[in-house]
Amino acid sequence: MKNYAQLSKEAARILADQINNKKHSSVLCLPTGSTPLGMYNEIKNMKIDFSRVTIFILDEYVGLDIKDKESYHYYLYHNLLKRINICKEKIYVINGKARNLKKECDAYERKIQKMGLDLIFLGIGLNGHIGFNEPGTSFSSRTRVVKLSDSTLKRNSKNFRKKKIPLRAVTVGIKTIMQAKRIVLLASGKDKADIISKFVNGEISRKIPASILRKHKHILVILDEDAASYL
Ligand code: GLP
Repeated sequence: MKNYAQLSKEAARILADQINNKKHSSVLCLPTGSTPLGMYNEIKNMKIDFSRVTIFILDEYVGLDIKDKESYHYYLYHNLLKRINICKEKIYVINGKARNLKKECDAYERKIQKMGLDLIFLGIGLNGHIGFNEPGTSFSSRTRVVKLSDSTLKRNSKNFRKKKIPLRAVTVGIKTIMQAKRIVLLASGKDKADIISKFVNGEISRKIPASILRKHKHILVILDEDAASYL
């Protein structure tokens, strides 16, 4: 894609097609981060009927209340959910403040397994992480608690104005991601060019968690020219 605006439009079009062309209700898994913001903005203006759509959030920080402004739930609510006609009971978020996080993650995983993901959108971290599946993650991982890497903490702490960034997060696992029927990965900007080149041309290895996505039968990678500039 020529630029971020085009990338966002194309991603929104794919999401809209998924919902409009399906006779049955769609089950989506959606990411946070700066990359999908443009797509969410497009969607808000598209008048898509979300009334039969189910949305799972991809990840969350441990220890943040879902109403906390730094939480991913708050991000998704403010950037998308509050502006679409989705039913409240069809929104699934991971409670990073749950007393028993393992139980919370297992229940979330079971719910995903039961419903099956039709389409998952992903961003990519500078170190190749997807969701919060950091380098070294097993390709058979499921929804669970993870420790964030130093590089992720450094980069993401810029978004934490009021408090210290949590050192742990909960994330949908790689195996769970790979079981989605379709995957769309978005990347924009010069700072993603290096990891995109490793993701596309490097070996498939735990060192670059996103690399396993190349084995998925229905993956689409949407890049702007900057992110694709090392290819
Ligand atoms: C976070 C999220 C990821 C996201 C990544 C990239 O770490 N957990 O799901 O893909 O950031 O974010 P950005 O799009 O802001 O570069």
